[in-house]
Amino acid sequence: MQIIDGKYVAAELRQKIAAEVLAMTEVGERPPHLAVLLVGDNPASEAYVRLKRKACEECGIESTLIHLSADATQGQVLAAVNNLNADDAIDGYIVQLPLPDHIDEQWVIENIDPSKDIDGFHPMNVGKMSIGLPGFRPATPQGILMLLEYYNIATRGKHCVVIGRSNIVGKPVASMLLQKALPGNCTVTVCHSATQNLQELTRLADILIVAAGKPAIVTASMVKPGAVVIDVGITRWQDEEGKWHVQGDVDFAGVAPKSSYITPVPGGVGPMTIASLLKNTLRASRRRNKE
Ligand code: GUN
Repeated sequence: MQIIDGKYVAAELRQKIAAEVLAMTEVGERPPHLAVLLVGDNPASEAYVRLKRKACEECGIESTLIHLSADATQGQVLAAVNNLNADDAIDGYIVQLPLPDHIDEQWVIENIDPSKDIDGFHPMNVGKMSIGLPGFRPATPQGILMLLEYYNIATRGKHCVVIGRSNIVGKPVASMLLQKALPGNCTVTVCHSATQNLQELTRLADILIVAAGKPAIVTASMVKPGAVVIDVGITRWQDEEGKWHVQGDVDFAGVAPKSSYITPVPGGVGPMTIASLLKNTLRASRRRNKE
């Protein structure tokens, strides 16, 4: 069994991005500029946004935070999105999800300029991904594919089982691994909360991707010996002493000995998500510089 070290792979990717940004600025181009629109005060979202901005800073990417209060109206959120679309200094931006309940998330996403949609959530980018055209790909699935590639894990013809059908991870990772281009060309099964024979299906997986957001739902008996196990879960919980922990969707201690490769939590997929977002920001800025 080999542990997939996402922290290491992400650090390498970030170094590469930093070198490319430096090369851009050395020839007089402006550095890439990412903006984050955050609405409300969800502590997990605030923590992710801090990590994203810190990673930008370390790579020489500029970042701007637009922080609206939890009671911002749809109109105010739309105005912020329109400003970001119109602002030539911003190469790409993300709207941190989830948004407060009174805001229509999908409606906000549909108002993002697809050429600045570095999260790849706009229907235009989702559609392009689905038919195999170039466009922005969501950061977490893209990070997972980069890990498979980095570790030379064969995907062609393999049975990939995904648990979870979110628009952020489950659906896009299934769509990407279904494409003929490598890493991909898998046979893909997507399981979700209404799946009746979950264990029967997961036991068929050569590559098992778990993005259910339910701590330790995948146990050793659900995994085929030698499977590649990718854990996307990050549930944060606080112990009696007030210390925060993160827990994946996979019972790591039980599953690891049965797997050929496995991602830990933390230090697996998480760091790749941020590195992948930086990669998309750099790409957005290159495209904008060419225009
Ligand atoms: N919330 C959880 N994951 C993500 C992500 O990848 N992008 C955005 N914008 N919000 C998220």
